[in-house]
This record gives sequence, structure tokens and C-alpha cells, in this order.
Amino acid sequence: MSNEYRSDCHVLVIGSGGAGIRAAVEASAFGGTIIVSKTISGKGGCTVMAEGGYNAVLRSADSITAHYEDTMKGGAFLNDPSLVEVLTREAPGRILDLFAWGAVFDLTCENEIAQRPFGGQQFPRTCYAGDHTGHELVMTLLERLRGSPVDIRDELTVIELLKEGNEIFGAITCDREGELGVITADAVVLATGGAGQVFDTTTNSAAGTGDGYALGYRAGAELIDMEQVQFHPTGAVYPYSTRGRLITEAVRGEGGVLRNANGERFMEKYDPARMELSTRDVVARAIVTEVLEGRGTDHGGVWLDVTHLSQELIETHLPVMLEQFLQFGVDIRIQPMEVAPTAHHFMGGLRITPEAHTTLPHLYACGEVTGGVHGGNRIGGNALADTQVFGRQAGISAGKMERTAKRNGAADQIFAAEEKIAKFYEGTAAPAKVRKAMKAVMWNNVGIFRNKLDLLTAEREIAKLQAMPLAISSPREIADAVVTENMLLVASLVIDGALLRRESRGAHTRIDIKTPWTSEISPFGHTFFSTGRAGIEIRGERL
Ligand code: FUM
Repeated sequence: MSNEYRSDCHVLVIGSGGAGIRAAVEASAFGGTIIVSKTISGKGGCTVMAEGGYNAVLRSADSITAHYEDTMKGGAFLNDPSLVEVLTREAPGRILDLFAWGAVFDLTCENEIAQRPFGGQQFPRTCYAGDHTGHELVMTLLERLRGSPVDIRDELTVIELLKEGNEIFGAITCDREGELGVITADAVVLATGGAGQVFDTTTNSAAGTGDGYALGYRAGAELIDMEQVQFHPTGAVYPYSTRGRLITEAVRGEGGVLRNANGERFMEKYDPARMELSTRDVVARAIVTEVLEGRGTDHGGVWLDVTHLSQELIETHLPVMLEQFLQFGVDIRIQPMEVAPTAHHFMGGLRITPEAHTTLPHLYACGEVTGGVHGGNRIGGNALADTQVFGRQAGISAGKMERTAKRNGAADQIFAAEEKIAKFYEGTAAPAKVRKAMKAVMWNNVGIFRNKLDLLTAEREIAKLQAMPLAISSPREIADAVVTENMLLVASLVIDGALLRRESRGAHTRIDIKTPWTSEISPFGHTFFSTGRAGIEIRGERL
């Protein structure tokens, strides 16, 4: 490889959503920082698509303790308490940073940041910019990024992390022409987001392929709770071209109600106290139960109705929803929306400390690629806060990493990457076809209601797909094949976790197992995964 394709920096950030950009901006205060994005910085990840809001305690009637309790309870007490403590304590400061940098949030008459109710929370603490909060956040961060000395490298896919002993010291990349490159660094931050794309129906952008889980796992980092996949209760159902698209929780936060095909407000049966503002795991299961029991709409969903709200409120607080539905002929001011659950957020991921260290030296992680912050079920509005709190933390920790002697090496790993690519040219299975099959397997067998038989079917089918030799015919297809391999690995980890967790907890429901305990007193802790070792913590023991 010629020097043209080699770079060196102090901190390498992989991923350019809200967490990655925040990490890069922080890290750049300590030394040369490169951010790589497999799409276009800020535009390809899921942060930009987040609609409803950002949770932070901003009023004296609310409290950090209440936010902590809501996050733990919503997470079925599988959360790492030390991470939740940092999240809830730091979330207010980080939204004020964004505000100071020019983010235009909705304000109250007193010119304070407005807050709306979201599910599973004792207080209306979700700050918002209409129903395009993530977009506002990313645009603000991009301004910061462009004004910083960070070297931005778009359309660069990371193929493998570079490792010496246990230490991570950079990454092998592949550009859109298929040219390999090497970036060495004193510290690497993974901020690659989640993997909703392993499922057939998802809110995630095409970039939600879980590359960071796969990169971290192959490098030897520990992952936890990969079975905990959140299905957002309200995704679009019809027309089919829109299936899975996010219908923000803000619709329910603003007073939207759910009804089945018989017109019944069915949440009365599942959570009479919180109704539509119950936690996402409960609402998603309720909707699927209504559909399975024959009370669904013709397209397999239920109705989400805001027609009783004022037109002005819909137009000002839910403008994206209004516009989106108008495009396919539904005026939500006078007609209900048809909705059903859609794969949305991975609660599991790389195990981190409150300072965003992973289990590998020199490797840090932040945002959805990490596990432990949200436990078994994330409450709506905590993801954007997570990106800012742990993005900043990861950037600072990585920035503080001592300068290491620069490696000339990586020759073995580059050779291995080149060999892997050479094999793709001899392969027979088109990546797109393999992905389509994988998505169907995951959707049909590893969805909201799970049982051992289906999980074993999924395990077998994913193993078969993993054994298929992926095929490419030009260098431009290398990234596609690499990402497909990553997705299959992530799918297998989700299934492994779902088999290991022999209880229903958070978003993971095993209908074949009836457990006598509640989440709060469950003997089970985290499932964990690293090369050569997977298991579940039982009463503090790793088994
Ligand atoms: O429903 C939503 O607007 C999504 C928010 C979130 O996932 O936090």
C-alpha cells in the first residue's frame, strides 16, 4: 500500500452521527483528529432521523433522581446504574451546549426550552424542535465540526480495527472506489450506531448495519445484551413503500390515541395508568397482540389518531408527520394514521465504563453501539441525550490517551484484508440477496414475541447464510460485502443472546418461558459476548 493511502492521527472517530461528531469535536482539542463516515458526515446515520426529542431535567419540579428512576424502570433494571447516573446528570448540560451553539429548540412563552411528555416518564422532560429534533441537533453539530480542525473523511468504510496485542491502534479502510487505506491513531472511538437494518422492517437509515458491533467483536471487545432490540411501537404500515418509517412518539406525547380496528382504545387493557404513554416495549406488545387476535387493520396495524387535537397544534408541533402523511394522501388533521411496530434501537452493544472505555485498551465507544445505558428497553428521548453525554465523554477520554509509538506495521492485517477481498471475487452469493434472506429470518423468528423453536430456526438459517461465499465483481462492491458479513455476525449475536436469556425482560419476550420473578429481582444480569466466550450473568456469576 502506497503512502498516499496511509494517515496518522491522535484520535480516529469511526461514525458521524450525533455521538461521533460530538466525540470528534471534543477530541480535536487534544490533538489531530480524523472522523470517518461510510456515508456523508451527519447525513447517513440515525440521529438525523430522530424526531421526537431529547430528555433532560430542566425544571425544578423535575429531578435527576426521577429521570434516573424512569430510565432504570423503563430499562427493566438491566441498565448499568453507573452509566444511567452519568446520562441523567449530564443530559441538561449537553442540551444547553447545543442551545448555546445555536440549535433552535421549541421555546415556552418565557423563552425557556419547551418540554413535552414521552412514554414511561414521570415528568414532561423531552425537549424538542418540532418533530425534527435529531435533524436540528445534527445540523448544529455539523457547524461545530466544520469550524473545528477535525479532518472529515466521507464515504470510507472501515474493514477492520488494527490491533497489536490487545491494543487498538487504528483501522483499515476502503473508499468508494474500493481502494484500501490505513489510519493509525493513539485512540479509536467507535460511534457507528445500531443495526436495525438486520430486520426486514426498521426505522433505521441504510447505514444502520451494526458495523461497530462486528468490528469491536472481531477485535476482541466484550459486548452485552445483544438480544435487547427495541421495536418502536409506531412505524408506518401503508403504503408498503413507507413500511417501518418512524411515526414519532411525540404524536402520542401531544395527545394522540391508539385504537384497534373495532375503534377500541386498547391500551386500557395493557397499561390503564399510562395508556399510550406506557414504555415502548409494552405498547409494541399491545399492538401486536391486538393484530394477532384479529383486531388489526387490513394492513396489519392499528390506528393512531390525532383528529381530536387542534389543527394548529398538529401543524406546529408535528409538521413532519403532517407533511409525510399528506404525501401519500392521508391528512392526519382529519384521518387516523395506520401504524405497527418496527425495529428501532439496539440497547445492547459494547460494554463501556462511565468514561466510555471499552474492554480493549485504546478503544472507546459512544452512542447506540454501546450497551448498558438503556438496559432492556430505552425510554423515548434518551437516545439523543446518550449521543451527547457519552459522545463528549468518549472524545475527552480518547483525547487524553497518551501518545503511543507509531506503528509501521499492520502488514499482517492488511494482508488478511486483501485475502478476504480476493475471496469475494471467487464467491457465488450476491450480498443483496443474502441480506434480504437474513432480514426475513430475523423479522419472522427474532421479533417481538420469541420462542426457542423459532430462535433455533433463525440460528440455523443465519449460519447457512454465513457459510455462503459472498460475491463481488468490482472493487466498488467490496464495502457492500464487508457490511453484509458484519450484519450476519450481528444477527447471530442477537439470536445467541435471545437463546441465553431464558426470561422475558424489557424488549425481549420469551413466550415459551414463564418466570416467577419480576425484572427488579431477576437472577439474570447481562448476556455477554466476546470471541470464544458467550454467556449470561446469573446472580453475579458469569456462566
Ligand atoms: O419516537 C421518536 O421520536 C423517537 C425518539 C427516540 O427514539 O428517542
